[in-house]
Amino acid sequence: MKRKSIGARHEMIVQPTFIIGTFNQDGTPDFAPITWVSKTCEEGDTCLIVISMYGTKQTKQNVLRTGQLTVNLATTGMLPLVDYFGQTSGKEGLKDALPYAWGRALWVEAPTLDESPWVCECQVASQVATGESDTFFCRIRDVQVDEEIDVGGWGVDLTAFDPVIYSGYYHSLGKYLGAIGDFYQK
Ligand SMILES: Cc1cc2nc3c(=O)[nH]c(=O)nc-3n(C[C@H](O)[C@H](O)[C@H](O)COP(=O)(O)O)c2cc1C
Repeated sequence: MKRKSIGARHEMIVQPTFIIGTFNQDGTPDFAPITWVSKTCEEGDTCLIVISMYGTKQTKQNVLRTGQLTVNLATTGMLPLVDYFGQTSGKEGLKDALPYAWGRALWVEAPTLDESPWVCECQVASQVATGESDTFFCRIRDVQVDEEIDVGGWGVDLTAFDPVIYSGYYHSLGKYLGAIGDFYQK
């Protein structure tokens, strides 16, 4: 194979699409898709979710103010919501042009999306500013999943959740292929 240079592009660094839920100052909910999401290990089994936000979007202002948020997995059925939330700002008013149900998180002051089958409740532990972006290192308070989905002890079959993957374009996920050790026995 001969590769060609395409410049400093980052679209291949992808994760499932998450919709971040926060409360505005007046107590109304705001939701926005954020795909610059990763994780790091603090110590032992304690994992921090790393979420990066650019500019002055409402979600970022809410997180800077409250330090509390929910991370709602977006499924393919939620694509109209992803597309809508991502093209509108809470700075312009309540996002209510599409119908959706929401509730209050159990452990943090933030809204959750009823339709999401995987919801993570987070509290900001620390943050780093890089230029116009702020990156939040978030401690996980709790994760709630659709009761119908068996998540087992470790690992998760992503296909059961049917997530949206975003690379600049929206994608769905392919097949479940196996676990570590299924392709090479040490
Ligand atoms: C699929 C998708 C992924 C996005 N990912 C990010 C992201 O990772 N970081 C970011 O700052 N903005 C991201 N955005 C842009 C925000 O969702 C967008 O600015 C939104 O209008 C913010 O709404 P808010 O002002 O109510 O927070 C994404 C948008 C879409 C459609």
